[in-house]
Amino acid sequence: MLDPELLRRNLIVGFESTDSENVHPFSVLRSQLLKHVRATGSRVFAVMSVQPGNGKTHVAVNLAAALSRIHPTTLVELDLRRPSIGQTLGLSPIRPGIDDALGELATLQDTGMRIDGTKLTVHRVRTPKANPEGLLSLDKLTALTNAIRNSDDQPICIIDTPPAVIHDDIMLIAPAVDGVIIVVQEARTSKRALVNMIKSLSPTPVIGAVLNRSLSSPLQMNEYEYYYNAMSEPQSP
Ligand SMILES: Nc1ncnc2c1ncn2[C@@H]1O[C@H](COP(=O)(O)OP(=O)(O)OP(=O)(O)O)[C@@H](O)[C@H]1O
Ligand SMILES: [Mg+2]
Repeated sequence: MLDPELLRRNLIVGFESTDSENVHPFSVLRSQLLKHVRATGSRVFAVMSVQPGNGKTHVAVNLAAALSRIHPTTLVELDLRRPSIGQTLGLSPIRPGIDDALGELATLQDTGMRIDGTKLTVHRVRTPKANPEGLLSLDKLTALTNAIRNSDDQPICIIDTPPAVIHDDIMLIAPAVDGVIIVVQEARTSKRALVNMIKSLSPTPVIGAVLNRSLSSPLQMNEYEYYYNAMSEPQSP
């Protein structure tokens, strides 16, 4: 069982019911994503951003939580260098993690933590890795995403990733996913860096963008201010 106080401190609102105004931005994002899933059959999505701290983990965890209220959902942490999902959700630090599964030391059954009372399964990283490239090979990632795609409950999979600017891990992750949701932080993410990142992900489509911590959003949702673009149709970068 997750600790509601820890979730509140870590700004994880996605598990809350839809009448909570905090969860509204993630309900809207969830609806757009479900429309995309229905239109395309795609079910595996990575959340990416140019810089550290733009809000990838915040968006990935909240979106997965909101989805899991109505659809089986799998949240996978592929930021192997600086993982944070275990701490954010207060998960056991002992159980094997997705790093162990990618290293063939554990199975996905071992690493999947089902969150009580929800349809959410979380594969968090147990031990940070300084050089994760070997664990992020296309073969390993394709096997991982195919195993999730082929699960009996047909989950939607949300993958949290490291920032684009520091290493090229996202280039290794992109070919194994169906689409990318980009998190942009207003006044921090430069247009040129964003365009370069989107180009580098091709042919994997960018299916939507979240403007996190907008300075000028029409939505006044306490600390949460987001824009969404239409995610019903895949967009070419
Ligand atoms: N909309 C928001 N409102 C308030 N705080 C936020 C918002 N988005 C993110 N944060 C906070 O900003 C910090 C950085 O966010 P987060 O960890 O999600 O970024 P990240 O892109 O995953 O960073 P990294 O690249 O280092 O993994 C966290 O403490 C998070 O709770
Ligand atoms: Mg993160």
